[in-house]
Amino acid sequence: VIERFELRHSRGATLHLYGSGAVAELAEAVAERLRAAPLFVISAEPILERHRSLIDPLAERAASLEILTVPDGEAAKSVAGAERIWRHLTRARAGRDALVAAFGGGSVGDLAGFVAGAFARGLGWLQLPTTLLAQVDAAVGGKTAVDLPESKNAVGLFHHPLAVAADPEPLSTLSTDQRRAGLVEIVKAAALLDLGLLADVEADLDRLLAGEADPTTTVAARAARVKAKLVELDPEEAGPRRLLNFGHTLGHALEAEIGYGAISHGDAVAHGLRFASRLAVVRGGDRDFTARLDRLIARLSLPPLPPLDARALLERIERDKKRRGGRIAWVLAMAPGTGVVDSDLPPGLVAGELASFLSGESPAPL
Ligand SMILES: NC(=O)c1ccc[n+]([C@@H]2O[C@H](COP(=O)([O-])OP(=O)(O)OC[C@H]3O[C@@H](n4cnc5c(N)ncnc54)[C@H](O)[C@@H]3O)[C@@H](O)[C@H]2O)c1
Repeated sequence: VIERFELRHSRGATLHLYGSGAVAELAEAVAERLRAAPLFVISAEPILERHRSLIDPLAERAASLEILTVPDGEAAKSVAGAERIWRHLTRARAGRDALVAAFGGGSVGDLAGFVAGAFARGLGWLQLPTTLLAQVDAAVGGKTAVDLPESKNAVGLFHHPLAVAADPEPLSTLSTDQRRAGLVEIVKAAALLDLGLLADVEADLDRLLAGEADPTTTVAARAARVKAKLVELDPEEAGPRRLLNFGHTLGHALEAEIGYGAISHGDAVAHGLRFASRLAVVRGGDRDFTARLDRLIARLSLPPLPPLDARALLERIERDKKRRGGRIAWVLAMAPGTGVVDSDLPPGLVAGELASFLSGESPAPL
């Protein structure tokens, strides 16, 4: 069975399909567009080597299909990489009816969406996410971006795809670390927005970590739906969508401080969730619930954090805040399914909690 739902946005709606055979169903849904114009599939070698046959249903229906390869992983997300593709599209005389498809993880998706959004003021595009993280998070919501040497995701735009097809088949080749990264984003959304999903993740965690297809498809579709609903409610990220930054305030600082590549985004966010539990307790949050989240995160067997300086991390958080032009916002789980965006935490309190968090002390009893 294929789970399907729509994400409605100002330009229409994105069809989301989750399950085995999702790509064939997507090809059928956009068959007319595929017949009428050329399709440019953007992907990276390691993904094509292992999973190329997944795009067969598109090849069968498309008037023409050309595969454009980009550097693997985050390296795909560069202005130079986008320019190479734009120039290729121009030489291939791609018109405004041309379609782009992203076939890969979140990096390929972010790049392909950006390329499609800016070329000829917007080409239609499709997403075939191949990592769990991309299926539950990156491919939902229409955010696209490339990096600058100075800053990740510095240049981007909102450009919703026509359709997203998430097939479980490619997930079979993910590493445990890659699966954990996707699961962390699922836990993050479930804890604040879908307690049924949280209970499913708790019950099936061992099977999810082992990469079993069935529970993975079910929780991935449900988590994507949770995010899609928030995106519909808050397309500009001014209100409830900010709850999805749960774990990310400290997570981003950890990534920058330890070094991209030295800690994964998922692990950094997971440590951020652990820290948010401490802050929630200090702010009067439900201790049983934060303990429940901590137990779930402990089952993910995160690598421990290296020794870190609390002051350096706080400076990074402060700089992040300036860049966003706002206040430092901590997303806290105050009760089951209830998150708040807390912008009034006294800096001294955060600093003290962070120092003891980093030294591995357990939280002080209240
Ligand atoms: N647009 C958004 O809303 C949004 C949300 C979250 C994350 N992101 C972005 O997503 C990116 C991270 O995405 P990601 O975690 O999918 O990683 P990724 O796309 O950077 O890929 C990481 C590695 O996984 C490999 N890979 C992809 N599919 C695979 C498969 N099926 N089996 C084995 N290996 C596979 C890739 O070849 C690559 O080496 C970041 O750039 C992040 O900024 C975007």
